[in-house]
Amino acid sequence: MKTKNTLILLCALLAAGACRPSPQGGTTAVEPGTNAVIETIMSRRSIRQYTGVPVGRDTMDVILRCGINAPNGQNKQSWAVRVVDNPEWLHGLASALAGDGMSAEDVLQRGFRGAPTVVFIAKDTSYPFSETDCGLLTENMLLSAWSLGIGSICLGGVARQIAGTPAAQPYLDRLQFGDGFELVLCVGFGYPAEQPEARPRDDSKYRFID
Ligand SMILES: Cc1cc2nc3c(=O)[nH]c(=O)nc-3n(C[C@H](O)[C@H](O)[C@H](O)COP(=O)(O)O)c2cc1C
Repeated sequence: MKTKNTLILLCALLAAGACRPSPQGGTTAVEPGTNAVIETIMSRRSIRQYTGVPVGRDTMDVILRCGINAPNGQNKQSWAVRVVDNPEWLHGLASALAGDGMSAEDVLQRGFRGAPTVVFIAKDTSYPFSETDCGLLTENMLLSAWSLGIGSICLGGVARQIAGTPAAQPYLDRLQFGDGFELVLCVGFGYPAEQPEARPRDDSKYRFID
């Protein structure tokens, strides 16, 4: 029984992924529930169902500022970010992507997961680390949003569809990314209407090398 309890405690600490540098060197496990950043990271889930409530621009502004404060190569800030919260605009884009038995409503629900705000992120094709920069920017946005009670979903499928659909070109033009920039990812934001379980992670993907 004692071994089982020790195991449960160990699992809880590991699940929290929680370590901080100790003044003596090495690391100290952090008590679960005592570190807001770790709690946010570990509790965030992709949200694929949203309430109809739009996210205020002031709130999105906080999230975007967190995004652009991400670490990035040579501080080039090699991203271009556009935010669309106009439902007619999003419906128009979805209509351009519709076809093959998918209506605009289907695209909004399946492609954009019904998110009321969509952030479009483009990389600088002339900078080899730009996609990494965009990923770090994205993660800062997802985590800051979650800490504010706002859900998010990365939308790689629809980003690729936009890039490959000539009818969507006018919408890409309206995003005005500029020369040398290419859409890499769309990210939906909104208030969660679901509480998904964590998807399993494979901890054999990392290891220490002696
Ligand atoms: C680059 C990228 C593209 C993604 N594209 C989609 C997508 O098109 N549709 C979708 O439902 N989820 C998409 N996701 C979300 C992943 O499926 C999700 O992050 C993963 O299953 C882990 O689940 P979690 O975010 O809840 O931890 C994408 C995530 C990333 C990072």
